Amino acid sequence: MIPRPANPLVVALDTASLEEADGLAARLAPHVGMLKVGLELAWAAGPEAARRIARHAPVFVDAKLHDIPTTVARAAAAIGRLGPRMLTVHALGGPAMMRAAVEGAREGAAAAGHASPLIVAVTVLSSQADEFVPPVSLAWEAKEAGLDGVVVSGDDVGPVREACGEPFCLVVPGIRPASGDGDDQVRVLTPRRALEAGADWLVVGRPITRSPDPVGAARALLLEAG
Ligand code: C5P
Repeated sequence: MIPRPANPLVVALDTASLEEADGLAARLAPHVGMLKVGLELAWAAGPEAARRIARHAPVFVDAKLHDIPTTVARAAAAIGRLGPRMLTVHALGGPAMMRAAVEGAREGAAAAGHASPLIVAVTVLSSQADEFVPPVSLAWEAKEAGLDGVVVSGDDVGPVREACGEPFCLVVPGIRPASGDGDDQVRVLTPRRALEAGADWLVVGRPITRSPDPVGAARALLLEAG
């Protein structure tokens, strides 16, 4: 059973500077459920990024792994050793690759004395307007492969929740405050709409990290979530 998070907010620390990410993490930690280390920060600062950010709050490593199963298993094991709470792979990598990620991450986490991370599959990137494979099919495939949940956005959140039921973790990026613009996100939802549609976790980057008052922006989003 995967418990619903007490605080659903995940802040994406999308910066090339670990110092900047660390400063944001220190200020935002009391207001978030997880902090996300994505490709930009991971490639700029390496594995140290996940270790440093984990001092402040549980870490979501958004690695978006997509390769042959053996390579993904080994990469997932290396990430598992860092002790993240959550890790992503691409659903388009297929069931064998997704299963390899789950096994690799479990082994890596266990070897380093950490709990197994939740492994979730990215269905469609929320900057894409037209997808080629329906997100509901990808989500179902991920569930069948034994993943803990999926990353899904916009109008697909409700249908994926309906198709996959509970417990299945829905991580929703492309969240924007009711008053804000969408940046380059095409599939946007307000926090309230996303939770009503069945989201567990709300991923928010720029509306918080680029705000002159990141803590105020985080608190306002949580208030909106209700
Ligand atoms: O700044 P913004 O709120 O648009 O950030 C969204 C974050 O969610 C980024 O870190 C991006 O990589 C991530 N993401 C996404 N769409 C997905 C999966 C992850 O936008 N399907």
